[in-house]
Amino acid sequence: MMDVYWLEQTEADLPPENDWLSDSEAVRLDSMRFAKRHADWRLGRWTAKCALAAHLNLPGHPPDLADIEIRSAPSGAPEVFIANQPAGVAISLSHRAGVAACAVTLFGADLGCDLEIIEPRSDAFIADYFATEEQELIERTSAAERSLLLALLWSGKESALKALHTGLRLDTRSVTVSPVAAPLHGDGRAQDPALAAPASYWLTNWRPLQVVYEDGQIFHGWWQNTGDLLRTMVASPRPAAPIFLQAECCMGHRPPIGEKINHGAPGSRRKLDRNQNSVSSVSEPALSVAEGW
Ligand SMILES: CC(C)(COP(=O)(O)OP(=O)(O)OC[C@H]1O[C@@H](n2cnc3c(N)ncnc32)[C@H](O)[C@@H]1OP(=O)(O)O)[C@@H](O)C(=O)NCCC(=O)NCCS
Repeated sequence: MMDVYWLEQTEADLPPENDWLSDSEAVRLDSMRFAKRHADWRLGRWTAKCALAAHLNLPGHPPDLADIEIRSAPSGAPEVFIANQPAGVAISLSHRAGVAACAVTLFGADLGCDLEIIEPRSDAFIADYFATEEQELIERTSAAERSLLLALLWSGKESALKALHTGLRLDTRSVTVSPVAAPLHGDGRAQDPALAAPASYWLTNWRPLQVVYEDGQIFHGWWQNTGDLLRTMVASPRPAAPIFLQAECCMGHRPPIGEKINHGAPGSRRKLDRNQNSVSSVSEPALSVAEGW
């Protein structure tokens, strides 16, 4: 399975200056008229650069990050350049409610990640945007779990549409998301070897999901939530559960570990142990009832 790395940052992690942007990124930022887009884009670029510096072992202090440039392809998909040369990695970005996530993996892989807030959604939204199989799953799900399931299905779609490089130009019903149940032995291991996951799965609560595109292509991925923030990631080739990065360049701007911040973003509360490929503190999922999916 392919390794995928994950970093989240919040507004609190951002330095006040923009010396970590390249000249062309600074021009682009200046051109953004809407405050939310300006803030989201800036946080997304910061998160991506910190993730890439950590993953590629590059100098990570803010002025050094100006050499790492995240350009947008005509499709809107992010592309990485280092010192003006294409970098040998693929990334995906998402921003939601003052949090940004960046997933990083091998160049050439199809990768998508997404953040969503768990909140109620209308029947009209379900009828308009979800495939028949998804609507049937939603119908069978109790009211208590429905918001979590809706966020998971919607986020899985957005991740898949990013992995397909189309975004919402494609009909959202062309990708069908399903959480993959992982039946457990008493000792916590999956019975089906196909569902068996590395230790990081059990330590970080990432759970498997699958997305089927209407042309038959299947994306495998993972989902996880802490509080009301839900994360998904899908990729092809098949990814292992995401490994949390700890970005040294961000440490100067980060609240101390353990201090409460918005949405329990993993980057702020978890400490990566690179040797064990795991995290040192783990929170339980908000809704344990989701085990049944
Ligand atoms: C991709 C998309 C579904 C994400 O929407 P969202 O959930 O509101 O936003 P998120 O924060 O989760 O993701 C946004 C990021 O997705 C990435 N993205 C955008 N289009 C993408 C695409 N076609 N393929 C892969 N990733 C894409 C970008 O990195 C973007 O952040 P950035 O613009 O700051 O670099 C949506 O932006 C979309 O459909 N975009 C394509 C259509 C479009 O309107 N394009 C505008 C012209 S470029």
